Amino acid sequence: MTIAVNARNGAREFECQPGEKILHAGLRSGLELPYECATGTCGSCKARLVSGRTVSEWPDAPGGRYLKSEAELLMCQCVAHGDCALEIAVPLKEREAGAPAPRALAGTVRDLRRLTHDVAAFDVDLEGALDFEAGQFALLTVPGIVGARAYSMVNYDRLAQRLSFVVKKKPGGAVSEWLFGEGVEGTRLGLFAPLGHATFRPALHKHVLCIAGGSGIAGMMSILSHACAGGHFGDWDGHVYFGVRTARDGFFLDELEAFRARYPDRLAVTVALSDEEVPAALVAAYPRFAFERGFVHAVAGEKMKGRFTDVRAYVAGPPPMVDASLRLLLREARLAPLDIRYDKFS
Ligand SMILES: Cc1cc2nc3c(=O)[nH]c(=O)nc-3n(C[C@H](O)[C@H](O)[C@H](O)COP(=O)(O)OP(=O)(O)OC[C@H]3O[C@@H](n4cnc5c(N)ncnc54)[C@H](O)[C@@H]3O)c2cc1C
Ligand code: FES
Repeated sequence: MTIAVNARNGAREFECQPGEKILHAGLRSGLELPYECATGTCGSCKARLVSGRTVSEWPDAPGGRYLKSEAELLMCQCVAHGDCALEIAVPLKEREAGAPAPRALAGTVRDLRRLTHDVAAFDVDLEGALDFEAGQFALLTVPGIVGARAYSMVNYDRLAQRLSFVVKKKPGGAVSEWLFGEGVEGTRLGLFAPLGHATFRPALHKHVLCIAGGSGIAGMMSILSHACAGGHFGDWDGHVYFGVRTARDGFFLDELEAFRARYPDRLAVTVALSDEEVPAALVAAYPRFAFERGFVHAVAGEKMKGRFTDVRAYVAGPPPMVDASLRLLLREARLAPLDIRYDKFS
């Protein structure tokens, strides 16, 4: 099937397989269609159907609240039934030179482990190597659970054979609760990857600011891994702000300490606890970290005052925390939108 997309700045066509999401087909073919969550919640992939027929695989997707008429649709949830013509409100872009193309692939769950009472980590052994950029995410499909879920890669590798993920349990959440059940190890998953714009590239000549809430630290680990390996913090500062509720919710602290220890003069890690005073034992266990009581965006805003010049900020975590951080970075820090990269874990 052929999908024609019209925008203010031109038109493009691409082929779409039966049952394939229109967004996936476009991205796979090198067209940078608009999207953020790729999972039906944010509405940024909306398009208007001019001709043809599409069917939404999730008619109740929360992103539907952004659609203003029957003709509008979410490209991340819709499949085409025959040739279609669509219109989008944002300019068409080609995929950036050097950015890896997303594609569908499969993999097997390995090495599932609990990091805290409600955070699990696992790897996916891929059937075929995958190139991705630090900070990107994958869509994972679990057999028997409807719809894909987005999870940020924790590791960074060229031509990776294995992807690492970290997932916070959401009460009543289908995939996150499945991960805490039985029979997960060895499950074969479907993937569509890599996706996402919160990427770090070694050519970035900027200080790096990471503001993460809970499992939002996932993509930051990938960014820190790539930045440390490439010597980025030899020339530029790194500021990592990691927010969790209480000390028992913390994870990856040893790994963050290992990154920090490689660049002790330029890479700083601050852990913010929102729901309790910082226990002395935590400070004693990580004497080189800074600890604060408060919401992570507020702590970052306070400590970064006057230090926002030449900064590229990365933000990830629960939507209210990301929204608060975006307000800080746009209104107070006055960073250019291009220098604010974020993923809302909606
Ligand atoms: C870019 C991005 C990166 C993310 N990275 C991480 C991460 O690294 N770690 C982490 O813990 N969380 C991450 N999340 C959140 C994650 O994708 C899930 O929303 C979360 O794990 C809850 O999933 P669940 O299945 O447990 O909950 P559920 O409530 O069952 O599902 C939550 C999400 O699944 C999708 N969904 C649900 N039902 C359907 C359906 N019928 N059809 C289609 N889609 C459906 C929707 O997107 C919904 O918001 C990320 C989210 C985004 C957008
Ligand atoms: S990208 Fe489709 S709703 Fe977010």
